[in-house]
Amino acid sequence: EKGGYDYFMLKEIAEQPKAVADTLLGRIGTDGRLSLDEVRIPDAVLREAQKVVIVACGTAFHAGLIAKYAIEHWTRIPCEVELASEFRYRDPILDHRTLVIAISQSGETMDTLMALRHAREQGAKVLAICNTNGSTIPRESDAVLYTHAGPEVAVASTKAFLTQLVACYLVALYLGQVRGTKWGDEIQAVVKELAEIGTQVEEVLGTMEPVRELARGLAGKNTVLFLGRHVGHPVALEGALKLKELAYMHAEGFAAGELKHGPIALIEEDLPVVVIVPSPRGRSVLHDKIVSNIQEIRARGARTIVIAEEGDETVVPYADHLVRIPVTPTLLQPLVATVPLQVFACELATARGNEVDQPRNLAKSVTVE
Ligand code: F6R
Repeated sequence: EKGGYDYFMLKEIAEQPKAVADTLLGRIGTDGRLSLDEVRIPDAVLREAQKVVIVACGTAFHAGLIAKYAIEHWTRIPCEVELASEFRYRDPILDHRTLVIAISQSGETMDTLMALRHAREQGAKVLAICNTNGSTIPRESDAVLYTHAGPEVAVASTKAFLTQLVACYLVALYLGQVRGTKWGDEIQAVVKELAEIGTQVEEVLGTMEPVRELARGLAGKNTVLFLGRHVGHPVALEGALKLKELAYMHAEGFAAGELKHGPIALIEEDLPVVVIVPSPRGRSVLHDKIVSNIQEIRARGARTIVIAEEGDETVVPYADHLVRIPVTPTLLQPLVATVPLQVFACELATARGNEVDQPRNLAKSVTVE
């Protein structure tokens, strides 16, 4: 069952290149154009959408946070992301020109289901991004884009998350395609890169031994912090969530720009801080800002664990541990940057003697509110 792995989680982490490729399968044409006909939301509806609202919980919520950057950048449609459990209680503003995207691996999460019911009652169109055929959330939605991660058994979500990201990028790029935006060329280029991303995830998986070793060395720590900017911020949140649920450690993700507004007070001698560094190409301002953040925390004694693109030399002097990830377009970086964080959390959990596939107090699908 576990295919030679000690845990389902390890197997599912290893399956990510295939999960990503399967989710792209048949959706990118040879001409580089996307076809999402299966989704069944008429292009006219997508063309007229005035707002996108994403609802989800936990890891799926983090996928939604990343999707916001992609959707707003490529389509210029305003996009909100909300925890499904909060959504209907604040009386959100929705109408028939709102496209609601509900993201759920299981398709049975009660909070997400109640959020989408509320959205449909207000006349919004709901598109589900889901990994489970025929589950309740896609059945109750107007349309569905399935992720093809295959069954995810471990409680902690890994391959489902990566495929949720792929599905979100597909929706964002498709919205850009049907609406036509000034980013047409960029969209074409990104579609090409997305088609190759499984190979890059594979590359990352091949270089994880130092990450495992590092994790084992941190088993006695109480706290780990995660910092990121732009799409690296949700990646930091996801890294922290994985560590909480698997290693039962205090872990927090911050937007690096928030450091001086509070969290920097937490920095002390030898505190492990994982920093996700954006590409130095393209949005280089972001990159330079985070390099100074790394310097700031290191000057205060933090043990810096830096996740940075291949060839980025500026971070080297400030990294106590350096984890390399392949060069990708900025918006796609979460697909490769998340993988080391999954491996890190899994290995730390094992080192602390925890049950990796079945963390205490957690259930794979949360069917109560
Ligand atoms: C974390 C995790 C949970 C789920 C969340 C939503 O590793 O697995 O945070 O992501 O409970 O579940 P789905 O996607 O099934 O709606």
